Amino acid sequence: MNLVQYQQAIKNRVDSNLTQQINSLPDHAESLKQAMLYALLIGGKRMRPFLVYAAGEMLGVSAEDLNGPAMAIEAIHAYSLIHDDLPAMDDDELRRGHPTCHIKFDEATAILAGDALQTLAFEILCDYSMSQENKRIELVKILSKASGFHGMCGGQAMDLAATDKQISQQQLESLHSKKTGALLIACVEMAIALAADISEQNKQYLLKFAQTIGLAFQVQDDILDVTSDSKTLGKPQGSDQEQNKSTYPAMLGLAEAQTYLEELHQQALQALRALPYNTQILQSFTDFVIHRTY
Ligand code: IPE
Ligand code: IPE
Ligand code: MG
Ligand code: MG
Ligand code: MG
Repeated sequence: MNLVQYQQAIKNRVDSNLTQQINSLPDHAESLKQAMLYALLIGGKRMRPFLVYAAGEMLGVSAEDLNGPAMAIEAIHAYSLIHDDLPAMDDDELRRGHPTCHIKFDEATAILAGDALQTLAFEILCDYSMSQENKRIELVKILSKASGFHGMCGGQAMDLAATDKQISQQQLESLHSKKTGALLIACVEMAIALAADISEQNKQYLLKFAQTIGLAFQVQDDILDVTSDSKTLGKPQGSDQEQNKSTYPAMLGLAEAQTYLEELHQQALQALRALPYNTQILQSFTDFVIHRTY
């Protein structure tokens, strides 16, 4: 199976599982439910579920055991995007080629949809059908840490604090590694947690890969904000520049940011080469993350 086919198969599986999950909610808050479905499923690349399945299957974990982490991470991601777009944050009106959640619905509903998707992620991890009951707490721990103060939320706070300011490259790396890297790292950590047998050394290589790809993902996101267009991106091009955000192109200039991205690309591939597994899908994923156009 090539990357595109694998990606499509994963999107179909995750979307169908998530649709079922939302549709099974009771009917007492219909617009909230619709806003959750909208933010979760209208567009999106499903890169995080992809990473969960690709890393997990490489380590011999069954698809059944990976279904919960894949859905949960996508629910957290969708929540992070809803809140990221709110007027109090990036104040953007386009996401995945459609009006952002607070534009399509209203601000209060969007805030609640984010909140409810966040808690849904943990509900899923606690309830999904899987073969390793003893692993649930560890999965919850990984995802909560990556989502909250230590990870995405902490990174988002650093992002806001770094707006209209000059920060060091080290600070920018820390910011990006938290706001975007943490959730991508959590995908691999959850896969590792479910693996029956992985050496400490291989775990370290895989985590190094995840850290590198997590940072690279946001570097490319920053670059695309400069080089792409809103139609291709499905979100407003130039949003970072307009708000004077701290980004890699703003700090290093576009050409140097691209050179840095290529360095990260090579580092990620090098970490994969050190692994004694078939890393073909993860290699293709890496190339996709670096060269993606949306
Ligand atoms: C966008 O993530 C937000 C960042 C963390 C850079 P994606 O590029 O994965 O967004 P979707 O899910 O495909 O819309
Ligand atoms: C957002 O970074 C990362 C999140 C935690 C959602 P950006 O603000 O750059 O993401 P986009 O460009 O709006 O998708
Ligand atoms: Mg933002
Ligand atoms: Mg944004
Ligand atoms: Mg961005």
